[in-house]
Amino acid sequence: MTKKIAVLPGDGIGPEIVAEALKVLDCLVRDFGLQVETEIALIGGAAYDALGTPFPAATLALCRAADAVLLGAVGGPRWESLPYEVRPERGLLGLRAELELFANLRPAILYPPLAAASSLKPERVAGLDLIIVRELTGGLYFGQPRGRRLTPSGEREGYNTLVYRESEIRRIAEVAFQTARKRRKRLCSVDKANVLECSELWREVVSEVGRDYPDVALSHLYVDNAAMQLVRAPTQFDVVVTDNMFGDILSDCAAMLTGSIGMLPSASLDQRGKGLYEPIHGSAPDIAGQGIANPIATVLSLAMLLRYSCDDAATAERVERAVLAALDAGYRTADIHSEGTRKVSTGEMGDAIVAALRAFNP
Ligand code: IPM
Ligand code: MG
Repeated sequence: MTKKIAVLPGDGIGPEIVAEALKVLDCLVRDFGLQVETEIALIGGAAYDALGTPFPAATLALCRAADAVLLGAVGGPRWESLPYEVRPERGLLGLRAELELFANLRPAILYPPLAAASSLKPERVAGLDLIIVRELTGGLYFGQPRGRRLTPSGEREGYNTLVYRESEIRRIAEVAFQTARKRRKRLCSVDKANVLECSELWREVVSEVGRDYPDVALSHLYVDNAAMQLVRAPTQFDVVVTDNMFGDILSDCAAMLTGSIGMLPSASLDQRGKGLYEPIHGSAPDIAGQGIANPIATVLSLAMLLRYSCDDAATAERVERAVLAALDAGYRTADIHSEGTRKVSTGEMGDAIVAALRAFNP
């Protein structure tokens, strides 16, 4: 059956990197008989500029009707002075909330040809293959009340609420244990239970869920220690489960271990496996329009889309192997470039991946 993919390029480098993922998708349709249909819609600042809202109703309707969503990035300095309700980020957060995409999977894998590009010494990252399971629709990002107000003495005050219900912790823990079960069977839950009640409950509930997974070794770390361990000895991790805010921070940190934030894809899934797929990096307005952005995280997000929302692991692997082949052949965008490799543009990297893909065609 033909799958429908909603494509939301967004802002900054979003349109450039999404264009390369679409080249790959095109090749899969034309040369490999993949059955998908795509439709493009506005989100973020681009939607605000065109329609006065970062999250148009038509975009939500399209995403609801689609089997999966592929997104570039949202945000940029042009919209930073707008009120929160119409900031580009509200489009993305609205989509996550409306589609109940509570489970965010962020794999960080070191591709051996990129060992030299990692921020850590090659021997520390050799064999790195971890996945962060980030809770995506709760916690500080969505807790009520939130806002800004004046104190009785007339001082400005900002406030947000960190809140998690037991059911929210339980369902993300289930995803994390299931993920660990399919991998090396080690799960590390990250919290701040020495300070926060919310984290205390998190730890309690994750441990309770763990009783149903005796085959998975569960450990707990405070988030500050987890950040340290990630840069000290990252290969100790298999699956990491954590809340929305900690997951946001730790995944950027994990990204650098792989050579560049331009390498990390993500999948945000609902209870039934419908998903939104996006690179974990942002819109990088500083390099937008220059054709130098790394499209690999978006291409790998497309691979995750094929795996999780199209149930097509074989094609997903093909895309991942094509990325590796392009890297092996020495192609590098500026962010992962090092001596002895070939510096290429965003478009040339996309072309190299497509060429590698074609070479697999029997
Ligand atoms: C991410 C991004 C988003 C987040 C922003 C753009 C709202 O940083 O997906 O990690 O904070 O979740
Ligand atoms: Mg982030």
